[in-house]
Amino acid sequence: MTKVLIVDDEKSIRLTLREMLRKNGYEAEMAEDVASALKKLDEQEFDVVMTDIVMPKVSGLELLKAIRERCRSVQILIMTGDPSVETASQALHHGANDYLIKPIVKEDLLKAVGHASEIKALSDQKKRLELENQLYQKNLERIIEQKTLDLQNTMESIISLLSTVVEVRDPYTAGHQRRVGNLSAAMARKMGLKEDTIKMLRIIGYIHDIGKIEVPAEILSKPGKLSEVEFMLIKNHCTTGYNMLNEVNLPKIIGETIYQHHERCDGSGYPRGLKDEEISTEAHILMVADVVEAMMSHRPYRPALGLAAALGEISSGRGVRYRNDIVTACESLFLEDHYEIEDTVYHTTFPVV
Ligand SMILES: [Fe+2]
Repeated sequence: MTKVLIVDDEKSIRLTLREMLRKNGYEAEMAEDVASALKKLDEQEFDVVMTDIVMPKVSGLELLKAIRERCRSVQILIMTGDPSVETASQALHHGANDYLIKPIVKEDLLKAVGHASEIKALSDQKKRLELENQLYQKNLERIIEQKTLDLQNTMESIISLLSTVVEVRDPYTAGHQRRVGNLSAAMARKMGLKEDTIKMLRIIGYIHDIGKIEVPAEILSKPGKLSEVEFMLIKNHCTTGYNMLNEVNLPKIIGETIYQHHERCDGSGYPRGLKDEEISTEAHILMVADVVEAMMSHRPYRPALGLAAALGEISSGRGVRYRNDIVTACESLFLEDHYEIEDTVYHTTFPVV
């Protein structure tokens, strides 16, 4: 029910208006001056305020200003015995919505209050809809956030599973993928690459030899020299890894980098003999990290060769097999920052690409 506050210093007017409004289905309260009107407005919610302009102590215009400072949506009707344009414009300037000329007749009162009541109801409805819309948006954002998190967790567990699968198959290189992933990420950070690229490189490193799943275990763990056929089977792991990852819904950069991680700048790599810019930056980084980590680690057919030999290899291939800036980043990481090979699995959030 629409609630109206009548503010007038003349008691008879207050009572008459209240009676007319109550008889026509409105809830009506009265106040004899601005102070008691403001007190009532503090205590209760009103839809419409009808106020006299000329009152002792504080005028109705002051009340208008005070109400507008508190609430934009309450409808304010002023009542005046002076129907001049100036009074009306002053009242509208101070936030009144309409005015009634005294003496007020019933029809005019009901028409003005009815109209004010409709506007207030529409304004309340608009506010409600805006609030509902805001809540809906917030809820939607929460759902999207949760779904993104779920997707990232799923992708991370797929990566972790793939990483474990290769390691079970090829225990001699256990940890190699983790260490290459961590080294690639550290090199990418050293080069000032974006956080998402760093995260992605770590993930790619963790599974970059997934294609070895297709290589017979006895070849992977063979201590002696490999035959040409055996070597060809091992070399095929880049293509196998690429094909495997191409079939799952993971970012394309993962499969593509795995495909390219044995290519070399001068085209001497495999499987496609790509050169320079034909190779992605991610693959350029991964190939250097892969070579360095592999040389520093023990293999079934040789002992660990150490940091100096690993850095010697990339230095001798600088600008030929390996990209110049990446060799510099790797050297600086080990020689200036004293980076140590890390075997830890870092659970990074899967970058959304
Ligand atoms: Fe490899």
